[in-house]
Amino acid sequence: MQTKVFKPDQLVAAAAELAAGELVAFPTETVYGLGADATNETAVKKVFQAKGRPSDNPLIVHVADVATVKKYVADFPTTAEKLTQAFWPGSLTIILPLQPNAFSKTVTGGLNTAAFRNPRNQVTLDLIKQLGRPIVGPSANTSGKPSPTLAEHVLHDLAGKIAGVVDDGPTGVGLESTVIDLSTATPTILRPGAVTKEDIEAVIGSIDADHHKVKADEVPKAPGMKYKHYAPNAQVYMTAATDFKAAAAWAREQGEPFGLLATDQVLAEFSALAPAYRFSLGDSIVTASQHLFDGLRHYDQLPEVKLILAEEFPAQGLGVAYMNRLAKSAGQQRFTKSEH
Ligand code: TXA
Ligand code: MG
Repeated sequence: MQTKVFKPDQLVAAAAELAAGELVAFPTETVYGLGADATNETAVKKVFQAKGRPSDNPLIVHVADVATVKKYVADFPTTAEKLTQAFWPGSLTIILPLQPNAFSKTVTGGLNTAAFRNPRNQVTLDLIKQLGRPIVGPSANTSGKPSPTLAEHVLHDLAGKIAGVVDDGPTGVGLESTVIDLSTATPTILRPGAVTKEDIEAVIGSIDADHHKVKADEVPKAPGMKYKHYAPNAQVYMTAATDFKAAAAWAREQGEPFGLLATDQVLAEFSALAPAYRFSLGDSIVTASQHLFDGLRHYDQLPEVKLILAEEFPAQGLGVAYMNRLAKSAGQQRFTKSEH
């Protein structure tokens, strides 16, 4: 199959592919998603095939408005009312109980809930309106690889396997949306994102965050959280900005080429290193979040690189989501002066 690249003004053609049961990747403010008509089970099944995604991992349903969500759910609690008012369109995905048979099991993974998201990207909101139905959309990467923040990443993983991709340039946030479960007594964050716990608590009061409690032997509430994610071919080491000199000295002793993923301040100390081994995360937690996945993918193009030193940020605000993704890509490995 030839994968078409649609421009933002070619949404009629892109929606026609979706209506015909084909897959079209779409831009959002977080990462690119792999779209299929959420009401067409045959089409949704193709999403799992194209990504190589485990079939028990449910999909996010992307909608153009709150009214669409209300058509499918068994309950739309006050918390949902307040959160959608405050953060939609935007990077907050809400999980709600469904009416019986609202979506196929392929969408929900057999759960009686679904995750809903209203992305802050006008092109995709228009695409959903053009189709007239919600679209499912996991991140448009091969399962286990970093989520795509450019249409080029989507093509790298999925060219030949999907009908098309709508190219709207780089995504904004760069990390996947915050997922909050509103189907339980206490709202619980299952995956941290750009909408932070503090942002949410300012609107609905005290909530739980489950993501850092999930260990390998526990059953996580968001099925997707149990799989190893974002794993590049090289081993990533989380490294404090102040430890880069020591970490680089240690990496050099290992005798294999290594790469840096760090802010410009840190990279400035390593001007002797080849440019390909100095990937910039910009100058802040905002730019680091935008470029993290691109940086991990960059090193996958350099098979000689066996080790990546990636900069840590304080786990506060957006840093919670950034460190959650970085820790996963590193399999929790961290450079410490005493142990290395
Ligand atoms: O930013 C995003 O959320 C991107 C863009 C494309 O919208 N999408 C995305 O989808 O990251 P995905 O499939 O890669 O991640 C969805 C997460 C998974 O961890 C999945 O297990 C969880 O949400 N999830 C989906 N439906 C759920 C449900 N009913 N209950 C619990 N977790 C659910
Ligand atoms: Mg994903």
